[in-house]
Amino acid sequence: MLQKFGNSLIPKNQGQTNGKQYEVIAVTSGKGGVGKSTVSVNMAINLQQMNRKVLLMDADIHLGNIDLMLGTRSRLTLADVLKDGVELSDVVVQGPGNIDILPASSASLDIIESEDTFLRKLASAFNRFEHDYDYIIMDTGAGIARNVISFLLSAQKIVLVITPDPASITDAYAVIKVVCSVNKDIPIFLTANMVNSADEGEILYKKMNLMVQKFLDSKIQFGGSLLRDDLIIRSVKQQKPFVLHHPNSGSTTAIRVLNRRVLHTSGVEGQHANLFERMLQNKKIQFEWEK
Ligand SMILES: Nc1ncnc2c1ncn2[C@@H]1O[C@H](COP(=O)(O)OP(=O)(O)OP(=O)(O)O)[C@@H](O)[C@H]1O
Ligand SMILES: [Mg+2]
Repeated sequence: MLQKFGNSLIPKNQGQTNGKQYEVIAVTSGKGGVGKSTVSVNMAINLQQMNRKVLLMDADIHLGNIDLMLGTRSRLTLADVLKDGVELSDVVVQGPGNIDILPASSASLDIIESEDTFLRKLASAFNRFEHDYDYIIMDTGAGIARNVISFLLSAQKIVLVITPDPASITDAYAVIKVVCSVNKDIPIFLTANMVNSADEGEILYKKMNLMVQKFLDSKIQFGGSLLRDDLIIRSVKQQKPFVLHHPNSGSTTAIRVLNRRVLHTSGVEGQHANLFERMLQNKKIQFEWEK
């Protein structure tokens, strides 16, 4: 489908900070409000429970809401990295379950307007980022806006959240189509949220995978089913992530299954540009519909 840039120019995705390699897992969706932040937060905490060092990044640059979901309060945000003397490590806040959180910017308009400058500065700050992480979980915005897709193409693995809502399914297919048009090697894990049974989730996955095989000549993986669960609604309201407060719930098991599937699959291999450098490179890709 794509592309102006040959495959050789597509940045590969292995990240490295201070000599240690880390893996970036982007959590995304076609439609908003389907459970991306719920899945990101609980995946991140569960990975930390497995003794991995985890950074949860609110990558919804304009509308991030991880702070709200966890009741964490950040003095600084990503946007403050534009100021002299502010490092990314100053922006990080400690979240529940010992995860580190990089809050999104409640950026002012002029910062958003000069977004590339912002991202370049983040890229250089990221090189000096002192923490060593095993995993960076990115909670992205929904849809196929250039920013979102650039983040997805910069990740080693993508978790794509859908619900049985037909709009969520159609919009998720659009995300897969765009990602596959640039790079078919990034594993995409379809996670069915708010389903009534595990079977319902698996059927959604199978239907989507058939479409992807037939029309995109690619395939996706099944991340599993997260059932519609009042416990999740309460957990979000009380700002108490369920993997911490309800370790024996079915929802926690579903997150463990998702993490196991994601961890046991190899991500995209590559060289060592950092996450924001890759994102900047990916922003230059010209998509077919833009030609
Ligand atoms: N499995 C579930 N069962 C019941 N409610 C759920 C489930 N998953 C998420 N929710 C509810 O759906 C709401 C939206 O979830 P969440 O904020 O995680 O979605 P999102 O995709 O991050 O939204 P946005 O696009 O606005 O960032 C939450 O308030 C939560 O209570
Ligand atoms: Mg969200």
